[in-house]
Amino acid sequence: MKLSILSTKSAVVLGVLTAVVGGAVVSTRDSASAEPVTVMLCDGETQVTLNANGPVTADDGREVAAKLMAEWLAKNPQAQWEKDVRERHRLVESHDNSTLVGQQSVQEGTWSTVTALDVVTWKRETEKLVAEGALVFHDGKRLGSTVAVSCDMCHPDASNTHPETYPKFQSQLGRVALLRDMINWCVEHPVRGKPLAVDGPEMRALEAYITAQRKGVPLDYGKR
Ligand code: HEC
Repeated sequence: MKLSILSTKSAVVLGVLTAVVGGAVVSTRDSASAEPVTVMLCDGETQVTLNANGPVTADDGREVAAKLMAEWLAKNPQAQWEKDVRERHRLVESHDNSTLVGQQSVQEGTWSTVTALDVVTWKRETEKLVAEGALVFHDGKRLGSTVAVSCDMCHPDASNTHPETYPKFQSQLGRVALLRDMINWCVEHPVRGKPLAVDGPEMRALEAYITAQRKGVPLDYGKR
């Protein structure tokens, strides 16, 4: 279907109940009714309003994401991160622990020798969770999106998610955020899903993927 964008940058839109609570905009919508939907970006400011019977397919979602990003890039012309990494969906490899084979280490509470199988298992299991996170990151349905939008549509390869800068104060939230808080904020806006359980499989996988993609970048909490 073709989306029609009714208006932008407007917090008060006909048919959408929008309340401003502590700096955050909360939109509610009766899913049964065919009323316009306001989708807000991760910055807590940029928004677009969609026609009723809103996005269903990933292509519809891409149109929503592109519209939001066009609005945001107009305000932040220096930010070209998605151009740099678009078309590159690559997983970053985990640390190679093979030099530990044959060494003594504590495993499950007892001293033993690290085997090649241990090293392979650590790598396989770790990268499995990261790969799972990549799938969730790219899947509007698993993110619970009501507008067919997924994270990769604006953050290819998890670019510009800056997990190394958490915890830090986020004005959209009005408090110090952990990475998971910001992930959930983005799940609500612009993905328009329900917040994920913080210890649930989707959140754990997303955190793993986003962090893995920033391998090699020094931790620098609080950095803007
Ligand atoms: C429609 C485009 C769009 C979508 C979809 C989107 N984001 Fe964002 N995201 C942005 C923009 C633009 C910013 C930068 C906002 C700012 O700087 O104020 C951002 C910021 C973030 C940040 C903060 C980065 C920092 O510097 O600390 C995180 C983390 C993040 N997004 C994660 C996600 C996740 C996870 C999803 C999916 C659940 C998602 N985003 C979906 C556009 C998007």
